[in-house]
Amino acid sequence: MELTSVSHRFGPATVIDDVSLAIAPGEFIAFLGPSGCGKTTLLRIVAGFITPSSGEVRMSGAAVGGLGPAERGVGIVFQNYALFPHMTVARNVDYGLRARGWPRARRDARVREMLGFVRMSAFADRYPRQLSGGQQQRVALARALAVDPSILLLDEPFGALDKNLRLDMQIELERIHRDAGLTTIMVTHDQEEALALADRIAVFDAGRLEQFGTPQEIYDRPATRFVSSFVGHTNLLPGRLLNSRGEARIATDAGPVLVLPQARPCGRPGRVLVAIRPENLRLATSGEASAFAAVVRAVMPLGPTIAYDLALADGTPLKLLHMRGAAPGATPGAQVHLQIADPTHCPVYID
Ligand SMILES: Nc1ncnc2c1ncn2[C@@H]1O[C@H](COP(=O)(O)OP(=O)(O)OP(=O)(O)O)[C@@H](O)[C@H]1O
Ligand SMILES: [Mg+2]
Repeated sequence: MELTSVSHRFGPATVIDDVSLAIAPGEFIAFLGPSGCGKTTLLRIVAGFITPSSGEVRMSGAAVGGLGPAERGVGIVFQNYALFPHMTVARNVDYGLRARGWPRARRDARVREMLGFVRMSAFADRYPRQLSGGQQQRVALARALAVDPSILLLDEPFGALDKNLRLDMQIELERIHRDAGLTTIMVTHDQEEALALADRIAVFDAGRLEQFGTPQEIYDRPATRFVSSFVGHTNLLPGRLLNSRGEARIATDAGPVLVLPQARPCGRPGRVLVAIRPENLRLATSGEASAFAAVVRAVMPLGPTIAYDLALADGTPLKLLHMRGAAPGATPGAQVHLQIADPTHCPVYID
């Protein structure tokens, strides 16, 4: 599936802004981004419910501009998994097959197969109101899969579920995706869900594709400042880039000069932000030259890890995370020193 320079406007507002991406058969892709960034709109463009203002959608190498959802062979689970309330579970799953004119015997077999696939065989004669949220979700999935789509599109499929049920359903979806080998696009604004499930993640902000990469790339090498702060927590340290070639030297507003070997400055010296993950900071024993002096504002034990809320000399707030017992603890009010554990994992953005 390929999108080429796809843009969409609702009235004067550009909601999808020149998005191009290519998805390989069998890939599990997450569309990730904040509310209103255009995820649902783009999914509806892929499905064929919306014709984009400009750009092209291709499937299996062919442009599908003139085709509706049924002709594109997509299976969809909508944002609010709308099952038909007056139909039993079996009738819900049967709906798309009936619409496609399948003969009765073949439909019945397919419905049984799909309900078995999502482990809902025992519920075939129930109505949606007699099911839990997770069970309804599985039926919605069975209904989308029944028509044997070439692409499965899921719009926030687990949005309404509590944390435990969500995890169960994520595991289930992972299994279904593995077994069926189906190209899958899942919209979510939950970064953990995207990081856990997707082969690759497309991160959107205000209709623009900010980065398209593996979970590892997105987390370790966020391409933009937006991705850096949207995916995982990150500390953004203000400073001034001193040189325009070689390894980046940055005078931070808090004092120490950082030397970042991987960040090749490509612009003119000027204001920058250094992104440092909380787990990439450690408490240092004394004031080495590159260490930051900080004061501990709060200490939060989070099960296996401990989070520190810190303030640098210039007031910049910082978060630090380490495994319990991995370092000497510090208490609120304590003066500490901070060292960057791995300077090669600190992207630099122009401020
Ligand atoms: N039919 C429409 N007419 C006009 N504007 C629309 C229409 N549908 C969506 N929008 C606007 O387009 C933007 C993107 O909406 P969209 O539903 O794609 O966002 P989203 O990323 O799915 O958000 P959420 O995470 O809240 O579901 C929003 O600003 C929304 O108000
Ligand atoms: Mg949406």
